[in-house]
Amino acid sequence: MFHGLGKVNDMYKILKKKRLNSLVCLMEIEAPYVARSCQPGQFVIIRVDENGERIPLTIADYHRDRNSITIVYQELGYSTRKLSTKNEGDHISDCAGPLGVPAELDGKYKRVLGVAGGVGAAPLLPQLKKLASMGVETHVILGGRSDEFVILEEEFQGFAKVFVCTDDGSRGMKGNVVDGLKDLVSRYSYDKVIAIGPLPMMKAVVDYTKTINIPTHVSLNPIMIDGTGMCGGCRVTVGGETKFACVDGPDFDGFLVDFDEAMMRQTKYRNLESKCTEHHCVLKGGDNNAPQATQ
Ligand code: FAD
Ligand code: FES
Ligand code: MG
Repeated sequence: MFHGLGKVNDMYKILKKKRLNSLVCLMEIEAPYVARSCQPGQFVIIRVDENGERIPLTIADYHRDRNSITIVYQELGYSTRKLSTKNEGDHISDCAGPLGVPAELDGKYKRVLGVAGGVGAAPLLPQLKKLASMGVETHVILGGRSDEFVILEEEFQGFAKVFVCTDDGSRGMKGNVVDGLKDLVSRYSYDKVIAIGPLPMMKAVVDYTKTINIPTHVSLNPIMIDGTGMCGGCRVTVGGETKFACVDGPDFDGFLVDFDEAMMRQTKYRNLESKCTEHHCVLKGGDNNAPQATQ
């Protein structure tokens, strides 16, 4: 829908900002067109201001009554840090969506396990919440480097049985999420696993669930540029076929994903990204450090 240019900047007001830890922030953003129709598994592409690059972020929650969505993001580089300079009452210039295919969530399952690495807890939250609302018993493993990096525990506790794992043992079980997963499957049976987090973590989960044959879905986060299937930036190989994560995903059958290729492609622009952060984007073209699609 055409909003009228003068109005666009007034639309995406930050209604709430909450710091979850030293790297991760939650924001509730007024985005009526997105909030009206979004589903778990979908994402938005935001721009902090007119010159900013496009950042894909999962819709971690939505509030149709308040015309708003919640995003939870980790400050990694220039654009996410710039987002953190915004406060409640400020606006961002774009919030396009909902994008991507809603996650396949089926009420026929008896028990489903979510496995979240760090900020992966955010995309997992609406998926497990919806399954729980369909009568499915939901368990979740929240993993983090240490206590500080375990996020959204209270939110999950509203509908799921929560298990915490930390690398340093500062909270919950000492170990990574795969250690937690092995422990849980020895005690419970699961019809499905949904794993969301860094690519190496999702690969490790899938390497294990394949051996015990529990269907596993993952959410891929390749470099995205247009988010509409036009640029090829988010190309991934699934079951030997080329898929565009922005229009065919981002959720896929983890058993079929070529993780090695996805990890190789995700680091393709790392030098440019870190140069941009170092030099505050005094690169040609202002502060738009979006990688160009050269595929
Ligand atoms: P940079 O220094 O530019 O990049 C840091 C790292 O982020 C890069 O190495 C790369 O792996 C990734 N990245 C950079 N640009 C892009 C891009 N255009 N598209 C995808 N990845 C990029 N992060 C969250 O914290 N919370 C979320 O809910 C979340 N959901 C996502 C959903 C999808 C569908 C995708 C594709 C990514 C999601 N991300 C999420 C990752 C997030 O988009 C990147 O962390 C962000 O773009 C980094 O931007 P930056 O300029 O701050 O950092
Ligand atoms: Fe998916 Fe461009 S971001 S094709
Ligand atoms: Mg960037």
